[in-house]
Parts: sequence; structure tokens; C-alpha cells
Amino acid sequence: MIVRFRGPGAGYGVTLMKVKDKVVVITGASSGIGRATARAFAARGAAVVLAARREEALAEARRECEAAGGRALAVPTDVTDPHAVQELARRAAERFGRIDVWVNCAAVHLLGPFSDVPLADFRRVLDVNVMGYVHGARAALPYLREQGRGVLVNVSSVAGAVAQPYAAAYCMSKAAVRSLSASIRQELRLEGLRGVRVCAVLPAAIDTPIFQHAANYTGRQVRALPPVYRAERVARAIVDVVRWPRKEAVVGPMARNLISQSKLTPGLVERMMAVEVDRAHLSRRRPAPASEGNLYRPEDGAGSVTGGWHGARRTMVRRALTAAAVAGTLAYARRARRAQRPLSPLNLLSRAGVPSGWCRPSGRA
Ligand SMILES: NC(=O)c1ccc[n+]([C@@H]2O[C@H](COP(=O)([O-])OP(=O)(O)OC[C@H]3O[C@@H](n4cnc5c(N)ncnc54)[C@H](OP(=O)(O)O)[C@@H]3O)[C@@H](O)[C@H]2O)c1
Repeated sequence: MIVRFRGPGAGYGVTLMKVKDKVVVITGASSGIGRATARAFAARGAAVVLAARREEALAEARRECEAAGGRALAVPTDVTDPHAVQELARRAAERFGRIDVWVNCAAVHLLGPFSDVPLADFRRVLDVNVMGYVHGARAALPYLREQGRGVLVNVSSVAGAVAQPYAAAYCMSKAAVRSLSASIRQELRLEGLRGVRVCAVLPAAIDTPIFQHAANYTGRQVRALPPVYRAERVARAIVDVVRWPRKEAVVGPMARNLISQSKLTPGLVERMMAVEVDRAHLSRRRPAPASEGNLYRPEDGAGSVTGGWHGARRTMVRRALTAAAVAGTLAYARRARRAQRPLSPLNLLSRAGVPSGWCRPSGRA
């Protein structure tokens, strides 16, 4: 059911879609943000269809979703294969009767100097991160069109707005996802299909195993670039854009600040980002052998949401520091207010620097 609603649907009208009983397909659901998103939808009573390459990890994710209260189906899929993605959509519709939401989330990462990374790896990143989303969108849209409503969510990244060194293919892919989303949105508008929404989500650095999975030709170990936020935060943002569709949602204050700042001082942000990645994203002390990561073959195991980058702890510390700063400011303001005399018009003028002789009320000279 779709309810017309005056709410925070910034940039995309004001329609509230209820999540309960909706059918949600999520690619990249075996790990990280995709897996957290599947759980978040399942916990709100949605039926979730989970896609990625790892069967064991998908089966585990399916059990988590069922335990959270949702119905779930796992469909092992490689998103670079358009037929497999069509089959994913078909199986979702066959099992649950329709598709209401499609979340394109599957992606791979590649770090290394632009001129040194193998060309095949560069191409593979674009194949998974861009063509995988194209395949997803082309599989989902016929269902959404036929119903006249639904939401396509494309997970991009802050790196799609503010580029980073040693990650050209990844940044290109994430910028392409934003363009892809805008272009499809325009076509749907021209078709008059106002009920079908396309939203891009741009997370900051998130605590997932993406950096362990990444192909790496930098010779240096990769660390999540702080501040690192929890995957559940992105999952909540994705659920929110489905409920109140927006064209773009940026997740994490750091990402919001960075994007605003890069509009004001693009040169400065570009230089700062280069230094930060070189200083904090890539270890100077810990070497790493060249690796193609999970580009072509998934890692073994049951997968996980977190990458062990202590997102939770850092979030707690950040919250505690913010709370302490707010409390301190309030206490200071209260003390300052108590110390003040009541403000008369005369006081105000003298504070504004008007000499007292100029503003004495007549008759009191
Ligand atoms: N973590 C961050 O800091 C961050 C920040 C901004 C944006 N993002 C974006 O968030 C999304 C999720 O990333 P994540 O951090 O959760 O990374 P992740 O834990 O590595 O998850 C990536 C997912 O993509 C799947 N995948 C990779 N290649 C695939 C293929 N060919 N076919 C099907 N599935 C494939 C992986 O599963 P299998 O290996 O089982 O196939 C996995 O489920 C990505 O779009 C990423 O760009 C992440």
C-alpha cells in the first residue's frame, strides 16, 4: 500500500511506502551492507530475496533473515551474468508473486596505482560494479513498470562524489552508478511513471569486509579510512529511502561534510583526500602482497556484516564525545547566562559598541 504523505521525501515528492510484506531483492546480500540491509527489511516484515555468489554465506544470511521475522529466499547469482540476474528476478516473482524493491549492492574494490593495476582487473570492477547494476535494473524495471510502482535502490559511495587516489576503477564505477540512477529516473519521468522511484545511496566509510575482499596492488595493507560507520546505519538509510524515496541519500556526517565542502573548495578537498588516503587508508608500515582479492572468485566461508573495523566502538566513542561536547556547551552557556545582567535596551546598545553618551534616554543626562 502506498500512502500520500507530507514527510521528509526531500527531492522526490512525498510518498510513504510501507515495508511490511513488500518483496525486496538485494544483490551483495552475503556480506556487509547488503546482508545488514536484508536483515533490516526482514525485521520489518518484508520478504527478502538474497543474491551473491557464495552459497554458504547466503544460506546463513537467509537463516538470519528468517530469525528476524521475514520470509527469505537465497538465489546464488553472479551479477556479471545478465541471464543469471534475469533468473534471479524470475525466481523472486515466482516465489513471492511480485518485486517491490530492488537493491543493487554487489560490488568489488580494487586498489593500486592507476598505471600498474592489471587492465583485466580494472575492467572486472566496472563489470561487477556498473554492468552488475545495469543487469539488476534491467531485470527489475519490467516488474516495477508493470505494477506502476516500486523502488530501485542503487548503492553508490561518497567515492562517487569525491574521488580517491589508487582507486580509479572503483571511484569511476560509483560515479557511474549516480549517473545511471539519474538517467533511468529521467526516462521514467518522461514515461509518466511517477510511482517507480530510483534512489542512489552514498555511504561514507563503513565497517564491512570490503577492504579485506579488495584486490590490492599498492604493496601496502588497506585499512578502513576513519571515521568508520556501522553497516546497520546504511541499512536503515536504505529502508528509509524505500519508505520516503529520495533521489540521493548520503549516509554518515563525514560523507555529507565532504560532499558539501568539495562543492565549496574542490581543489582543497582533492588535495586533502589524496593525503588522507596515502596517510590513513594505506599502511606505511605493513606491506601486502599483490592480490586479486574477490574480483573473480568469492572468498570462502559464511561471510559477515562487519569487517572488524570497530565501527561500533568508534560510533560509541564519537557519540560519547558529541554528547560531552553538547553538554559542555550547554553548561557553559547556562553559566554565562547566569553571570549576565538582564539585558536592557541600553545594555544591548553599549554591547553593540554605541558609546553610552549617545544613547542616554532624554531627561537623564
Ligand atoms: N564498506 C564501505 O566502506 C562502503 C562505502 C561506500 C559504499 N559501499 C558500497 O556498499 C556496497 C556493499 O559493499 P560492502 O562494503 O558491504 O562490501 P562487501 O562486504 O565486500 O560486500 C560486497 C558484496 O558483493 C558481492 N559480490 C561481489 N562480486 C559479486 C558478483 N560478481 N556477483 C554477485 N555478488 C557479488 C559479495 O558477495 P560474494 O563474494 O558472495 O559474491 C558481497 O555480498 C557496495 O556497492 C560498495 O561499493 C561500501
